[in-house]
Amino acid sequence: MNILVTGGAGFIGSHTLVELYAAGHTAVVVDNLSNSNPESLLRVADIAGIGVIPFYQVDIRNRAALEKVFSIHHFDACIHFAGLKSVSESVEKPWEYYENNLSGTLVLLDVMRRHGCKNIIFSSSATVYGDPQEIPITEQCPKGQCTNPYGWTKSMLEQVLTDIQKSDPEWNVVLLRYFNPVGAHPSGRIGENPNGIPNNLMPYITQVAIGKRKELGVFGNDYPTPDGTGVRDYIHVVDLARGHVCALNAILRSCGMAIYNLGTGQGYSVLDMVKAFIAVNHVDVPYSIKPRRAGDIAACYSDPTKAQVELGWKAERGINEMVRDSWNWQRNNPDGYGNN
Ligand code: NAD
Ligand code: WQD
Repeated sequence: MNILVTGGAGFIGSHTLVELYAAGHTAVVVDNLSNSNPESLLRVADIAGIGVIPFYQVDIRNRAALEKVFSIHHFDACIHFAGLKSVSESVEKPWEYYENNLSGTLVLLDVMRRHGCKNIIFSSSATVYGDPQEIPITEQCPKGQCTNPYGWTKSMLEQVLTDIQKSDPEWNVVLLRYFNPVGAHPSGRIGENPNGIPNNLMPYITQVAIGKRKELGVFGNDYPTPDGTGVRDYIHVVDLARGHVCALNAILRSCGMAIYNLGTGQGYSVLDMVKAFIAVNHVDVPYSIKPRRAGDIAACYSDPTKAQVELGWKAERGINEMVRDSWNWQRNNPDGYGNN
């Protein structure tokens, strides 16, 4: 299949491109580079053993530019990663988050349907469950109250996509709810490239380990979890990337509307992650306990059975590979792709 990959220069998009090519698909990338560097695409091409990845530096809110891309290429499906993703920034700049994520997706969907491409895989998030009513979380678990505008953009876009599919059954919509993506390609050539101070745990750990930051603040040790620190379902980005390739099969089967959790089903605490990182990589990660972070929940992990049964997908990489590959990427690229 020929796939339009929006946001393909970013963290998850770049890893997904590698897996798409490995599975025999082709891709065209549209990205405005607001949170990425085109160097990632050069490295993806190297890893995938192809000459060059077709790339358009286009903002998906720019209808005319997007129309042009669709007039040049025929797409069988779109994997839609493009969006702003920082929880804390979304609290400070809600308008920018709603405008970028909602308007961008609405323009994309309109251009897609005008060109007869009605197959989309959407990057959603476990954040749509809010404080989940049940753990492990199945797809049956009702969506909850999000604690930040970023989360609401995901929840709202899930609704938009659901309603569009309901009104026009020619659409195939796959909502993938990611849990906590970490790790990097084992080559150490592509990985997560955060701008400024990382919000997320793993990039913070790697930046402490390499000496860019003094210590990790562990946000709370009084949660009702085995060691008191927050528990999450960390998933290796290569497993996550492969989940998208499997989701294309659902589209080929004309799935209509489908929702899948992409997680391992295994929860690890903040201290589990820190201790594994130290033990596997033989580097120190100084940390101290800080107050709880506003909006955090105690524990969140998936029941990934549905993706296994229906997509034939299962996460295969464990905590040791996650911490090893995160460190391998950071160590080989202390300044990421060089833009921060
Ligand atoms: P990322 O920031 O590395 O990648 C997103 C890409 O989208 C970037 O390259 C950015 O330049 C591009 N982009 C943003 N707005 C755009 C626009 N208007 N037009 C064109 N390109 C635009 O983020 P990521 O971690 O790879 O996440 C990919 C997707 O997965 C996002 O939608 C994110 O919300 C979602 N997601 C991420 C996580 C996570 O923890 N990383 C978890 C759940 C869901
Ligand atoms: C994980 C754990 C923190 C940083 C967020 C978004 C979610 C999704 C993934 C996009 C928590 C603790 C963290 C630090 C810490 N993103 N922590 N010190 O909050 O589960 O999910 O990213 O869709 O929408 O909400 O991930 O990596 O920020 O935190 O102690 O410096 O690590 O308290 O327990 P989170 P995270």
